[in-house]
Amino acid sequence: MGDTWSQLPWPGPPHPAMLLVCLLLAAGVMRSDAGTSCPVLCTCHNQVVDCSSQRLFSVPPDLPMDTRNLSLAHNRITAVPPGYLTCYMELRVLDLRNNSLMELPPGLFLHAKRLAHLDLSYNNLSHVPADMFQQAHGLVHIDLSHNPWLRRVHPQAFQGLVQLRDLDLSYGGLAFLSLEALEGLPGLVTLQIGGNPWVCGCTMEPLLKWLRNRIQRCTAASHGRTTTPVTHTIDFGVQPLQFQEESP
Ligand SMILES: *[C@@H]1O[C@H](CO)[C@@H](O)[C@H](O)[C@H]1NC(C)=O
Ligand SMILES: *[C@@H]1O[C@H](CO)[C@@H](O)[C@H](O)[C@H]1NC(C)=O
Ligand SMILES: *[C@@H]1O[C@H](CO)[C@@H](O)[C@H](O)[C@H]1NC(C)=O
Repeated sequence: MGDTWSQLPWPGPPHPAMLLVCLLLAAGVMRSDAGTSCPVLCTCHNQVVDCSSQRLFSVPPDLPMDTRNLSLAHNRITAVPPGYLTCYMELRVLDLRNNSLMELPPGLFLHAKRLAHLDLSYNNLSHVPADMFQQAHGLVHIDLSHNPWLRRVHPQAFQGLVQLRDLDLSYGGLAFLSLEALEGLPGLVTLQIGGNPWVCGCTMEPLLKWLRNRIQRCTAASHGRTTTPVTHTIDFGVQPLQFQEESP
């Protein structure tokens, strides 16, 4: 396996001027339609912007500033421009399911502090780079499933996501996943990794051991009378790993 990350273009985070423009727009200092009107082919209602199933090849520019839910699902979007989300400080939900994304620009989520729910399933992502979700510390749910070309998840891909509860990595092209990628996620409740072409060799041992221990701990906790029952689910999908019989 070659190290492809180092060869990827890395244009850097959005320019600070971009943020200034957003702040001025938000304050109504600049005169523009941006931030007030609904983009063509989308519907906007109560901070929900729905641009799904519109055969879009690119993301709509200039969403309402106070957008909370943005659905771009079921389009043919191939790229998200760097800094695209910089202005939408209220964004909680971003649905990019079922598009043609091969990668996301670095720093995309840098100002998405409130983003909780991110759906990137059914795309063509090939890797999850280090700090892809940098600063999006409010993320609770990330769906990366059904990215058949997804071969690599960087050990620091999910760094700092202390609130992350649900992570779906199923139906990708993963043969390996490092323990480091998951062990820094204290809030993880559901992990889905089924449907990947796992190679269960020595390199996977630390991860398998960790998973095994967690499942046992959860089983024990759910039988204890004093501890609050927490349902931890680790779903291995259609390609069960050998220790599945130990799950609750
Ligand atoms: C916003 O998105 C979430 C998650 O997809 C959904 O549960 C919720 O109903 C949406 N809110 C509205 C008002 O559509
Ligand atoms: C993806 O979107 C297309 C329309 O662009 C739709 O026909 C197809 O059923 C969708 N697939 C999934 C898996 O949702
Ligand atoms: C998905 O990405 C791979 C390379 O990572 C490429 O060979 C393939 O053609 C892409 N498929 C689509 C549908 O874009």
